[in-house]
Amino acid sequence: MQLVIIAGGLGKRLRPITSTRPKALVPLVDRPMIVHTLDRLPPSCDEVLIAVNFGYEAVRDYFRNHTSGREIRVIQEAKPLGTAGAIKNVERRIEGTFVVYNGDVVDTIDFDDLVRAHQRGRGIGTIAVWSVDDPSAFGAIQVEGKRITRFIEKPASGSGPGLVNAGRYVFEPQVFDFIDGGREVSLERQVFPRIIERGLTPYRYEGWWSDAGTLANYLNAQRLLLAASRAKISPEADVSSAVLTPPVHVAAGSFIEGKVGPNVVFGRACKIGRAHISDAAFLEGGSVDDKATIASSILGAGVAIGEGADVRDSILGDGVQVPPHAKVAGERLGK
Ligand code: GDD
Ligand code: MG
Repeated sequence: MQLVIIAGGLGKRLRPITSTRPKALVPLVDRPMIVHTLDRLPPSCDEVLIAVNFGYEAVRDYFRNHTSGREIRVIQEAKPLGTAGAIKNVERRIEGTFVVYNGDVVDTIDFDDLVRAHQRGRGIGTIAVWSVDDPSAFGAIQVEGKRITRFIEKPASGSGPGLVNAGRYVFEPQVFDFIDGGREVSLERQVFPRIIERGLTPYRYEGWWSDAGTLANYLNAQRLLLAASRAKISPEADVSSAVLTPPVHVAAGSFIEGKVGPNVVFGRACKIGRAHISDAAFLEGGSVDDKATIASSILGAGVAIGEGADVRDSILGDGVQVPPHAKVAGERLGK
């Protein structure tokens, strides 16, 4: 069974981390975001097509150097074609019923079970659904019996909890008849409303699910992955002077003091003094001086946080330096 991963968005909501790398390759705990999805695929998924626009070369080069036991083709979109246009762009490579995943979601979906549900449903498509407290940042889905009866992308907030599009689909090739070629088309806004009457089956699953494409969602995805036993302290890291509140993940070459956790990730070669850090991701090579406080933030490669600084609810790009005693709250720093 073929899987198309749509991973060509600009990742605007994670800038400036995504100014220097495509969203699919943004590190999440211990591996690039998209690799969490690839690592869960069963043998029945024998070919993966990754549709990329921004950052094509970086994604292509990554998969040239990392094998995964199945064929992975990175397909370049000359200009962004939207979520449906990206699929239309690979139409000639599709050989039958196929699966589509958004590239910025981590979850426990069972690929084979999703495909079986689609075969039972006999519709033109199947959409995996997840229940959230506030559907307004997602595609809201109404279900009656075994059919989806309504799909509204980014509905107004205030309607309470509901089912949303989990960004995991199975389609029959007939879906291509509803997508114009060569121009930008949205699956969620233009295609789903049109194909509902051809039969869209909802698929529910257990476990956990998170989008990872905004600061809040990225940190939520990190929490879920750490809880699912991705938290490891490398034997080549030194945490002997730290006070850790698990889960905390520390990669090789990092030296950590201070009070750290819960839900903190240090990439390789970070140097962290006697600071307070919770709910944060350091990509690699970051440093933090004594008495600094860091919460609910993503810190790019090589950031340097000065003594006594306070950083929260922020994304700091690669190489950003925060002076001693500065306060950074709700900001995006760096290019
Ligand atoms: N190839 C390609 N080309 N991929 C694209 C393009 C494009 O022009 N535009 C977006 N994508 C990819 C993104 O990289 C991402 O992996 C996926 O399509 C979804 O786009 P996002 O921009 O992240 O959308 P969203 O998070 O606001 O909403 C989507 O995901 C939600 C679940 O996380 C929608 O599908 C919602 O309905 C859904 O609930
Ligand atoms: Mg997204």
